[in-house]
Amino acid sequence: NLSGFPHYMLKEIYEQPESLENAMRGRLSDEDATAVFGGLNLSAQDLRRINRVILTACGTSWHAALVGEYLLEELARLPVEVEYASELRYRNPPVENGTLLFAITQSGETADTLAALREMKRKGHPTLAICNVVGSTIAQEANGGVYLHAGPEVGVASTKAYTSQVVTLTMLSLYFGRLRHLSFEAGTRIIGQLRALPQLIRETLHCHDEVKRIAEKYAHASNFLYLGRQYNFPTALEGALKLKEISYIHAEGYPAAEMKHGPIALVDEHTPSVFIMPQGPVYDKVMSNLEEIKARGGPVIAIAARGDSEVARLADDVIYVPEVTEMLSPLVNIVPLQLLAYHIALHRGCDVDKPRNLAKSVTVE
Ligand code: M6R
Repeated sequence: NLSGFPHYMLKEIYEQPESLENAMRGRLSDEDATAVFGGLNLSAQDLRRINRVILTACGTSWHAALVGEYLLEELARLPVEVEYASELRYRNPPVENGTLLFAITQSGETADTLAALREMKRKGHPTLAICNVVGSTIAQEANGGVYLHAGPEVGVASTKAYTSQVVTLTMLSLYFGRLRHLSFEAGTRIIGQLRALPQLIRETLHCHDEVKRIAEKYAHASNFLYLGRQYNFPTALEGALKLKEISYIHAEGYPAAEMKHGPIALVDEHTPSVFIMPQGPVYDKVMSNLEEIKARGGPVIAIAARGDSEVARLADDVIYVPEVTEMLSPLVNIVPLQLLAYHIALHRGCDVDKPRNLAKSVTVE
């Protein structure tokens, strides 16, 4: 049921205010300034003994894991490793007691993620799933977990499941933080910011017409760079993956400052760079990376916070999004990148919901 939308992907992009509300429903406690989860199957005492976390996943879910690394480090002060499930399953890393594994997966059926989970279980480590499909294999095999409640995701390119994964990781980081050092006041502040999020995503969707115009302008490019830093380095990877998957344009996501160590050689007047540059501690640094691209004649599309007039002087095109705290900015910034990929793909006549060579869930190795 497309509910009047031309494609599932667009419908699912537009469902994000609601899917985020559903992920948070009943999970925020003002009384304790924390998040609450029913299905972790580990006591608070067990969870306090966790001193290291491994996040494992594939594809877009792996990008959500990368955002989770920043969140868990900042809010819970936990050391985190993010592993491709396809790599983790065949490695034999020394994993100390007190390590918790999260398997992040929309479908709950991804073969590599399942195998990585089984391998960690076999070695005796507690495992939790962050999963969308209820009753899926990974949801059943993990010791416990959290459902996304995003509703069915039909488009092969993951959109709403990604933002639900990131918001769930934010709530989990809040929860782990509150079991440790995070203050009541800080917890209350984060809850307030989370509650405001669905409305901010609604406002972000107002950029649609502008994104469509920009998509038409750049739809003929053969290569794209996506650049962001810190919390928005994963946004750059995810934006590039969306474009690759559905428009078949070669795109690379990089931490913005890494560009000068190689990818800058790709820059010319035909290679657009998409800069993700919210307000925050690294804004000035990203701006100087942007200047380096402009100095080499590369077109620049910037995703920036509303009210940022500085960026408009340098970037060729700017997509404005609401200003949010840096921690939540990946959730807002990914929305225009999903729309950008969608419109570029449409412009090139691609099948956005069923891109070539891809399946919705990858149940083979
Ligand atoms: O169902 P999963 O989240 O485990 O799937 C993982 C990847 O196969 C998936 O995210 C893939 O990268 C998507 N096509 C991304 O849009």
